Amino acid sequence: MIEVDHLTKQYGSFTAVDDISFEVGKGEIVGFLGPNGAGKTTTMRVLTCFLPASEGTARIAGFDIFDEPLEVKKRIGYLPESPPLYRDMHVQTYLDFVASIKGVPKTGRTDRIVEVMGQCGLSDRAGQLIGQLSKGYRQRVGLAQAIVHKPDVIIMDEPTSGLDPNQIIEMRGLIRELAKERTVILSTHILPEVEMTCDRVIIINNGKIEAVDTPENLTANVRGTARFAVRVSGDVSKAVSGLATLPDIADVSSEIRDGETVVLVDCPTDRDWGPILSAKVVELGMGLLEMRREDLSLEEIFHALTTREEGV
Ligand SMILES: Nc1ncnc2c1ncn2[C@@H]1O[C@H](COP(=O)(O)OP(=O)(O)OP(=O)(O)O)[C@@H](O)[C@H]1O
Ligand SMILES: [Mg+2]
Repeated sequence: MIEVDHLTKQYGSFTAVDDISFEVGKGEIVGFLGPNGAGKTTTMRVLTCFLPASEGTARIAGFDIFDEPLEVKKRIGYLPESPPLYRDMHVQTYLDFVASIKGVPKTGRTDRIVEVMGQCGLSDRAGQLIGQLSKGYRQRVGLAQAIVHKPDVIIMDEPTSGLDPNQIIEMRGLIRELAKERTVILSTHILPEVEMTCDRVIIINNGKIEAVDTPENLTANVRGTARFAVRVSGDVSKAVSGLATLPDIADVSSEIRDGETVVLVDCPTDRDWGPILSAKVVELGMGLLEMRREDLSLEEIFHALTTREEGV
């Protein structure tokens, strides 16, 4: 549904988006994750035909963003970082105005607007001035204007920023609901949000893509091994050297946590190592107090991918 091909965007001599390529399939929710200034908004603005790219190309539903921007715009709904809303218009009037610009036919337009207001939790705000709405409700109006023409693709730049925790939960539900029929790209700084809402994650840093994968695979692949944290009773160094004799084990180390020594065992992800490790501890004549699998959090991966030195 979205094909991005060697896309580059320069502001003067500064490269904000640097030769990125990725694809997003129909019905997928993809999260754009990256620190401030990574190039997320720039990429979204290029994809929505608000900014021309410097090099490369992209296609939305098969239409090229340069050659057929009108066809692209018909198929895209865009929720910008701060939606440009007309503060002195009423919610329903504004949505009707946007719908007419976006070519929603006059017949059935009111029904469509009532439907969208219902979806975005705006039904009881139809007659309110946009300027008098709270930030969360303005964000909902922003979303309503993005989806009013039933686009195939919805691009949302930090859809939950500035919302309170309840509204964030509602917004996530709404995004998942929308994605049942549509393709969604969203950007965020909130890592749990990506894990909860997105099928795949694109980690972007300094204008470059660092990783594209499912949240689950990202957590497994960065380290390439599964880690078990084992607490034993008895001589920890004996446990470390004993466990290290197991074939195929990648690494065994120990770490002091809250005053207790924990043995950390890194194993290949090919089989379930839990029973093998516990049998070994028992064989060494030690007591097994606790054994837990510890996967990297998305937060740790994000940190690892976006702070590593150039060329490493
Ligand atoms: N109009 C512009 N002219 C010059 N530089 C710009 C312009 N817009 C953005 N930039 C620069 O391009 C880089 C990428 O900006 P962009 O807004 O795409 O980042 P972002 O990933 O959306 O960040 P944030 O998380 O803060 O929203 C930044 O270094 C920014 O300063
Ligand atoms: Mg941004």
